[in-house]
Amino acid sequence: MEPIANPADPTIRIDSHLDGAQGRSLADDVLDGLTRPFKELPPKHFYDARGAELFDQICELPEYYPTRAERAILQESAAELAALTGAAELVELGSGTAAKTRVLLDALHEAGTLRRYVPVDVTESMVRECAQTLTEEYPGLRVHGVIGDFERHLDQVPDATGPRLVAFLGGTIGNFPPGSRRRFLREIAGLLGPDDHLLMGTDLVKDPDVLEAAYDDAQGVTAEFNRNVLRVLNRELDANFDPEDFDHIARFDPEHEWIEMRLRARREHTTHVRALDLPVRFAAGEELRTEISAKFTPERLRGDLSAAGLELVRWLTDPDELFALSLSRVADTPTAVASSNGSG
Ligand SMILES: C[S@@+](CC[C@H](N)C(=O)[O-])C[C@H]1O[C@@H](n2cnc3c(N)ncnc32)[C@H](O)[C@@H]1O
Repeated sequence: MEPIANPADPTIRIDSHLDGAQGRSLADDVLDGLTRPFKELPPKHFYDARGAELFDQICELPEYYPTRAERAILQESAAELAALTGAAELVELGSGTAAKTRVLLDALHEAGTLRRYVPVDVTESMVRECAQTLTEEYPGLRVHGVIGDFERHLDQVPDATGPRLVAFLGGTIGNFPPGSRRRFLREIAGLLGPDDHLLMGTDLVKDPDVLEAAYDDAQGVTAEFNRNVLRVLNRELDANFDPEDFDHIARFDPEHEWIEMRLRARREHTTHVRALDLPVRFAAGEELRTEISAKFTPERLRGDLSAAGLELVRWLTDPDELFALSLSRVADTPTAVASSNGSG
């Protein structure tokens, strides 16, 4: 790991923990996931620069309500969250372009408590760009960016410098299956001291048609995003996937209450992942799962938080109850839950 301080700008520090490690993780995930009887790859590999761009486009789609709903909740509640947390630093996991984060940064800046922003993301360009623009937008703000995999590099988040708010937005927690989700929440809890909070976005259980449309838009942007993982494999591991050999599938699984994204082979064929000397055979119609996105109820979230040693402080939803933001803290007192619709 090489800390990269910008001598021209002492307000920015960027640490990169990937240095080939992401490549190794991709190779391991491909070896493991594409040789199973049911093929699967973890969603973090969608996000090269192109994948990140496509995700930004998804956020603007009429069918993709989560971004709009989460932003609306933030706009309604940011001042209250700033007052409740008194956060001197905001650590954001999977920060992306930090578009919605600005609502929170505005409120913390206005409250006069914010000193430092710590974006953690696997996409290098996102962390660098957002460090640059945010230090320009918020005078006096220091940015300590962490380019890394939040599943492996949470211990590289710098020590807290004051009351800390950890934000995990966009419903990304839903990408973890239930057991790993609780384990990951326990790891996040390890970043929190007694004065600190976790602010997490979760998509809510709703009409399956609405959910499926959000992951299978009319313009085909989500389909491109899904196929992008094959382009990542072609580039990084010298594979020869033809993305057009695969249909994009988005389906709600009512038993698990999660959306699954899959790529379904249009014809029987064998692809070669040359860097791993790995032939991968697909039968016609065979599916490769590329993402699960779990949907939540308040009970599911409370159970997950409690299993991770966290307690709910606020449950905030948009007026249509499409999405929720939860504020939680390390549980050391009997749980006191305030529920609200929008304004807290
Ligand atoms: C669904 S997007 C959400 C982006 C943003 N937080 C939002 O709410 O719009 C997921 C983000 O998490 C990042 N990400 C996904 N898996 C990651 C991992 N294992 N480690 C670090 N970042 C990851 C992606 O690069 C992407 O920026």
